[in-house]
Amino acid sequence: MIRFDNLHKRFGAKVVLDGFSLDVPDGATTVLIGASGSGKSVILKHIVGLLQPDAGGVDVDGRRVDALDTEELVALRRQIGYVFQSAALFDSMTLAENVRMGLARQQLPESEVASRTADALAHVGLSDAAGRYPAEVSGGMRKRAGIARAIALRPRYILWDEPTSGLDPVTSATMDRLMRRTAAELGTTSLVVTHDMRSAFAVGDRIAMLHEGRVRAVGTGEAMRATSDPVVRQFIEGRPE
Ligand SMILES: Nc1ncnc2c1ncn2[C@@H]1O[C@H](COP(=O)(O)OP(=O)(O)O)[C@@H](O)[C@H]1O
Ligand SMILES: [Mg+2]
Repeated sequence: MIRFDNLHKRFGAKVVLDGFSLDVPDGATTVLIGASGSGKSVILKHIVGLLQPDAGGVDVDGRRVDALDTEELVALRRQIGYVFQSAALFDSMTLAENVRMGLARQQLPESEVASRTADALAHVGLSDAAGRYPAEVSGGMRKRAGIARAIALRPRYILWDEPTSGLDPVTSATMDRLMRRTAAELGTTSLVVTHDMRSAFAVGDRIAMLHEGRVRAVGTGEAMRATSDPVVRQFIEGRPE
């Protein structure tokens, strides 16, 4: 399980995380909602050691991430698939080559690399597009290729950064279905960050709201919909300030 324990992070004078604590239980999908610029991506980056906390920390399977040495951090990152906000593909490589790239450092036999790449592309419905380049496919397909690259690692955890941003409603709904299917078929524990409430309710077993650097509220979708907290209500109803 992933546990955020009183995480503090500031950039210069700007306090982004101010005592953020949240448990992300295994075998479920936890969605973290919050306004743009509230610190959602900063939170994900702490899980894989791309950012260091000023105080507090993140534990993955009971181990404090910022206390790991380089080798331990590499081992940790193998367990965690990270689906970036932009698909972050290499334009000069085909979709299949992009997926293979993610496996390059794992020293797997070629047959294993080939079968994992094919399985991952099939899982996201891109088998027929394996030989195409990112510029030749739609935004939704690029996002799916980013997902294939993450799941080819056979991670225990998947971190999804704004998986539906920039997608049309139909493609967003397809993405929600893919997230649910990934959790169900691969048994991964997911943490999804988003400001898309429709997607949050569609995929979240639990929803937590980040506000002013902390968890403002956490509960099932049903509980969040029923909350009387005006800050949460305003966000989920999409009302202006
Ligand atoms: N490496 C960084 N250096 C300075 N400021 C940063 C850095 N990363 C994020 N920030 C700031 O932290 C705040 C939260 O960013 P972010 O986590 O990306 O928000 P979001 O919730 O939209 O993902 C923003 O004000 C952003 O400008
Ligand atoms: Mg972000």
